[in-house]
Amino acid sequence: MDALGSEANPLRAAVVGSGPSGFYAAEAMLKSGLAVRVDMIERLPAPYGLVRYGVAPDHPKLKEPILVYSQIARLPHFGLLGNVAVGRDVSVEELRAHYHAVVFACGAETDRRLGIPGEDLPGSHTATEFVAWYNGHPDYRDRSFDLSQEVAVIVGQGNVAADVARILAKCVDELRTTDIARHALEALSASRVRDIHVIGRRGPAQAKFTNKELKELGELVNCDAVVDPRDLELNPASRAEIDAKANFVSAKNVEILRQFASQPASGKARRLFFHFLKSPRALAGAGRLEEVVLARNRLAGEPFKQVADETDRAEVLRSGLLFRSIGYSGVPIPGVPFDARRGVFPTHDGRIVDGAGAAIGGLYAAGWIKRGPTGIIGTNRADAVSTVKALLADVPKLAPEAKRGADGLRALLSARGVRTVSADDWLKIDALEVARGQPDGKPREKFTRVAEMLQCLDTPTAALAARKGIG
Ligand SMILES: Cc1cc2nc3c(=O)[nH]c(=O)nc-3n(C[C@H](O)[C@H](O)[C@H](O)COP(=O)(O)OP(=O)(O)OC[C@H]3O[C@@H](n4cnc5c(N)ncnc54)[C@H](O)[C@@H]3O)c2cc1C
Ligand SMILES: NC(=O)c1ccc[n+]([C@@H]2O[C@H](COP(=O)([O-])OP(=O)(O)OC[C@H]3O[C@@H](n4cnc5c(N)ncnc54)[C@H](OP(=O)(O)O)[C@@H]3O)[C@@H](O)[C@H]2O)c1
Repeated sequence: MDALGSEANPLRAAVVGSGPSGFYAAEAMLKSGLAVRVDMIERLPAPYGLVRYGVAPDHPKLKEPILVYSQIARLPHFGLLGNVAVGRDVSVEELRAHYHAVVFACGAETDRRLGIPGEDLPGSHTATEFVAWYNGHPDYRDRSFDLSQEVAVIVGQGNVAADVARILAKCVDELRTTDIARHALEALSASRVRDIHVIGRRGPAQAKFTNKELKELGELVNCDAVVDPRDLELNPASRAEIDAKANFVSAKNVEILRQFASQPASGKARRLFFHFLKSPRALAGAGRLEEVVLARNRLAGEPFKQVADETDRAEVLRSGLLFRSIGYSGVPIPGVPFDARRGVFPTHDGRIVDGAGAAIGGLYAAGWIKRGPTGIIGTNRADAVSTVKALLADVPKLAPEAKRGADGLRALLSARGVRTVSADDWLKIDALEVARGQPDGKPREKFTRVAEMLQCLDTPTAALAARKGIG
């Protein structure tokens, strides 16, 4: 039998997920020097994961990696099978029958929970839902948020919380020419949100914002950033943290917050309040959210290991709209081990391992489903490259029988009535979205329903209507 990875017997690899880690893994395999065929399987008709459906619409520069991914998609021996969900349309076992190796790069698609009373009251949402809604993710198209509320609360102090705060704080004219979904722009244009409270369970030195994102919150056209200077007094352990040279981001965050605290409010229409050392203890209201009960915390522990301990002091913030922005979590797929505590597929050097820690031949993971939900887009490159390094090292050990890859998989999916979306199909959808955005000066007007995307591939009249911006 020809050696696996030779032209006569190419390595057939499936990548599950088309976000950054999926594309970087595909690129590393395609440029490895081995004969490789890579098929990227994506549950949505549109690729790019959180770069399309997470990165904020008013940060178009941060979506530029899409240009790199579209070049990777043009490399020889790359194929896309969009609109195919692993675990729903095809099982992991079936994938293993068609491919020598499967790299899971399926991200962290759900949210973590606070675990407090009232968490599911109407009016209490996750940032995950809100972000996906304004970015036009089909799963969240029909969500609604009561933007008639004047006071909104965001729990968590990371960059996702900063995105949510900014979208709520900006006036609609600042968003109009972005790729924000039309339904979100319409809803936000009627927003009455005036005060936005961003709640951190630890102190200013532990906030997870990056400096640029925090600074931007103090430079909004329509919104004043408000910080109580007393909240910026640091305990000795926090002072030690910001004095540590490597912790310059936190030191700079504290400096930026001090600037916010020293600025007099300028009377802008909206206000963004930063709260520290407070944790939601309960959400309350008669049938819907009306009050957020916040416990006062104190920090305990060594520098860099400080935790927030609740005290018996509490305060009540009246609000009917709350977003929990406390991190994402992976979703299990039948046939793959899952670490429910961390919300990841357990791995060792990128190889998926079973309960005893032994690598399961041919299964790998990269990106958020491997590391957990932290890190910027670029972080996923080194991560995916290291997973592919392990995969390539395993090639001599993988079963060398020739596999059918996409040919076999397409036949199976077609028999199940699944309409797959190829890379060329995506280019058509992409071009139509761009054309739909043009009349409004937007980079694109996304299709926000799967059926719309598939319809414009299959019916020329629908495509024409879409091109004219109808639909
Ligand atoms: C709201 C938000 C904003 C962000 N903004 C920025 C930013 O501005 N700049 C920055 O550098 N970083 C940003 N990040 C971080 C960055 O988006 C992540 O580091 C990165 O997207 C993680 O890449 P990934 O490939 O692991 O996962 P993802 O990007 O989530 O991609 C996973 C893909 O897998 C697909 N998938 C899931 N399950 C299946 C299945 N069963 N079958 C088939 N396909 C499946 C999903 O549809 C998705 O396309 C942001 C993150 C969030 C949450
Ligand atoms: N523009 C950008 O570059 C950009 C934009 C968006 C996202 N991202 C990246 O995407 C990743 C994910 O961002 P993220 O904001 O979701 O996560 P994150 O940075 O980990 O922030 C999560 C926040 O939630 C808090 N939290 C967690 N559990 C909590 C609980 N039970 N109660 C109260 N607060 C709780 C955390 O506080 P503790 O610190 O106390 O745990 C932290 O403040 C990050 O790496 C981020 O940088 C980047």
